[in-house]
Amino acid sequence: MSKHTRAAFPAGGVAWADLKAQMAQRTAADADWKSGRTAIFFFMANEEAYEVGKRAFMEHFSENALGAARAYPGIAQMERDVIDYGLDLLHAPEGGRGVFTTGGTESILLGVKSARDRHRAAGKGGAGQPLNMVMPVSGHPAFDKAAILMDVEVRRAGLRPDLRCNVDDLKGLVDENTFLIVGSAPCFPHGVIDPIGEIAAFALDRGIWMHVDACVGGWVAPFFERIGRGTPAFDFRHPGVCSMSADLHKFGFAPKPSSTVFFRDGADLERSTFRLGTWGSGMYTTATMSGSRPAGAVAAAWAVLNHLGTSGYEQAARDLSAMTDAYVAGIRAIPELELWAEPDVTILNIGSNVVDIYAVAERMRARGWIPGLTSAPRGMHTMLSMQHAPAREAWLTDMTDSIGEVRATKATSDLAATY
Ligand SMILES: Cc1ncc(COP(=O)(O)O)c(C=O)c1O
Repeated sequence: MSKHTRAAFPAGGVAWADLKAQMAQRTAADADWKSGRTAIFFFMANEEAYEVGKRAFMEHFSENALGAARAYPGIAQMERDVIDYGLDLLHAPEGGRGVFTTGGTESILLGVKSARDRHRAAGKGGAGQPLNMVMPVSGHPAFDKAAILMDVEVRRAGLRPDLRCNVDDLKGLVDENTFLIVGSAPCFPHGVIDPIGEIAAFALDRGIWMHVDACVGGWVAPFFERIGRGTPAFDFRHPGVCSMSADLHKFGFAPKPSSTVFFRDGADLERSTFRLGTWGSGMYTTATMSGSRPAGAVAAAWAVLNHLGTSGYEQAARDLSAMTDAYVAGIRAIPELELWAEPDVTILNIGSNVVDIYAVAERMRARGWIPGLTSAPRGMHTMLSMQHAPAREAWLTDMTDSIGEVRATKATSDLAATY
């Protein structure tokens, strides 16, 4: 590791114009989301929705959503609206409730906490035995993070050849100390939706909480279903689904930080709600892990949802589908490439039986792209959003050229798979 020289606390007095210039200089070499050269991190429906989100955020830039109930009833109302929209979209039954959070990780932490506490409250499990949660190997690390914080074990099931959860394998990992079963819609590495119906039926039968991690698909995959893409149902229509995480700051197209977590039974939300009245400053209550939260994110999500609405999200689903199909056709036309999975939404996992795909990725990096890498299978990963549409031809040309170089030199790569 190179030695870091600590920056001294600034003397101050730098004017905004200078700061702006310095920031531009510092970030000049950073990825430009508009170029579509970055495989993840930014999500776009269209330029207008992007502007709506940005402006709405800035309108409420200064307010703190922690104080919504007491000081900002207007923000609280927008928050309730967003939660209602999500409950409606995901077919939560009457009595379902939800929370606006700062990201997928926080939504997942809340779901895991409620599941663990319901299990404990029911007095289930072998005395002195550690609790465990069972999920496919492709589930997001946020669950492992939650497990560390809550001192529970994670058991990971294998995948079927189509890279969806192998439900038989998952069933074999479940025991009396299993408090939670997880499926993804879709999973991040391979972009496929796990067999949610099958898992949910098993969870219901065993009386175990099931959480669907729809951080990627929650706010957009329902519209894929509505436009007839054959996207499988993954929500509360399956009676075994107890909670769901769904990120607004991904395919809800809202600015960061914004996500949601929903509970079939509103009483379960109480299990992750924090309350303390004994610290000398009155009753402190949060439904989130975080305390202070940006009200701008709440306003922005509300504004983007109202700006796009049903027709806007359906159009986004059509645009994303057409773009994904065009990428898939382009990839299939390159003989050296394989798609390791059929994308359920817009995540592509691209590999090869002929060339080392990591060596291709290295050459793509040299050409200014920032591809993701997956380790099993060894693949190049990309999560397509609308800024990737204009970049398609250049991406395909650079892929073809990179593959040509790798073939010519028989290059291999010892890159480590990176998120
Ligand atoms: C399937 C899935 N779940 C959870 C998360 C975590 O979301 P966040 O980065 O907003 O915490 C991600 C992030 O990419 C994800 O893809």
